Amino acid sequence: MALWGGRFSQAADQRFKHFNDSLRFDYRLAEQDIIGSIAWSKALVTVDVLSYDEQKKLEKALNQLLDSVRQDPQQILQSNAEDIHSWVEQKLIEKIGDLGKKLHTGRSRNDQSTTDLKLWCKIEIAHLISAIDQLRKRLVLTAEHYQDVVMPGYTHLQRAQPVTFAHWCLAYYEMLTRDESRLQDTLKRLNVSPLGCGALAGTAYPMDRDQLANWLGFSKATNNSLDSVSDRDHVLELLNNASIGMVHLSRFAEDLIIFNSGEADFVELSDRVTSGSSLMPQKKNPDALELIRGKVGRVVGALTGAMITFKGLPLAYNKDLQEDKEHLFDALDTWHECLDIATLVLEDIKINYQNCQDAAKQGYSNATELADYLVAKGIPFRQAHHIVGEAVVGAMAKHKALEELTLEELKIFSDVIEDDVYPILSLESCLAKRSAKGGVSPIQVKSAIENAKQQLSL
Ligand code: ARG
Repeated sequence: MALWGGRFSQAADQRFKHFNDSLRFDYRLAEQDIIGSIAWSKALVTVDVLSYDEQKKLEKALNQLLDSVRQDPQQILQSNAEDIHSWVEQKLIEKIGDLGKKLHTGRSRNDQSTTDLKLWCKIEIAHLISAIDQLRKRLVLTAEHYQDVVMPGYTHLQRAQPVTFAHWCLAYYEMLTRDESRLQDTLKRLNVSPLGCGALAGTAYPMDRDQLANWLGFSKATNNSLDSVSDRDHVLELLNNASIGMVHLSRFAEDLIIFNSGEADFVELSDRVTSGSSLMPQKKNPDALELIRGKVGRVVGALTGAMITFKGLPLAYNKDLQEDKEHLFDALDTWHECLDIATLVLEDIKINYQNCQDAAKQGYSNATELADYLVAKGIPFRQAHHIVGEAVVGAMAKHKALEELTLEELKIFSDVIEDDVYPILSLESCLAKRSAKGGVSPIQVKSAIENAKQQLSL
């Protein structure tokens, strides 16, 4: 029986019931619904709706139900109940009879469902932060391990200047650090309790909503009941956080797919995260990374979908809001899984030291060094830039790297060039000179690794 049967003389059409019911996805809120109900029963004592003894009985039965759903959450899916709130109430009444029917006094599923989802979000944020930390740790350890691996850095996917594999790892470490802080920010705003806002106008029982909020671990109660039952900003913020996080992971994946390509061959992925081709026996495909790259689509899709669902909704609660959950569950599950898989990919990645180094030497990625050398000899940078451009064309015509040109050949472009140019053109010098904060010099990278290790208590 639905919670609201009294006004109706006809049963719901089965197709409408299936369309309307949310149990098949909101069963994930079972624990939060029960915990919220226990707090609500305590609030009902303070306004003399329940006696102390009645509350104790309710609390005991609700705790038994909590244990049972913790052990077997799938049991909920056997039920025909409309949603998780109806399911919990039904089970309670089955257990303790008429007393269970008192629990919903002064409460609505409108404040209840948003409270449950907020409680769930708080737990999920903690899980996501720990998954992000695992990947941040893995990135830092990988950086530490590969500090000496020089490889080309790219702009426009053209070799630009040499960097190290460690510096590349730390770039993603920074992105993930911001992803984590975005979650912390979201948590601060969502940590206010809508419980006690009733259907839309507030509860008619004069309880202390701040106290109720504290019992549930929220910092305080919300200010406006109309807003509270229809606010889904936290859903949008989390979907936005997930989208940005997935954009980062997709870039990470794409970089590694390029590094793993036959053309680059900078890295080798482990058999544990690759798969073969049914036709071509030689293939080892980076499926894990491709899926991470691909799944950003559904997460950004969920954000767009939720934005459009909430847009233009009149105050206060409308059933459209039930559409918040599937988007959110799918997007956060996907983000979480991609974080775990990205960590797994890095766990036993192998770096092809020689190929990275050889590639870093190609592509005239030390051209900026030659320009800086000319600047040091008194030539204005713009002019130096032009001279080196000509030198690169000259070297290309000879199929040589800049450092392979003889002094005589180099002097054609500028007679200030002397023998001391050669050490300047080495990879070591290219790296070492970038010693200002954030640069790729081994000293800077080492200190960035140390800072990161400290932040992560590694
Ligand atoms: N299943 C609903 C949801 O997730 C619960 C609230 C239903 N409220 C109502 N007035 N029909 O939003």
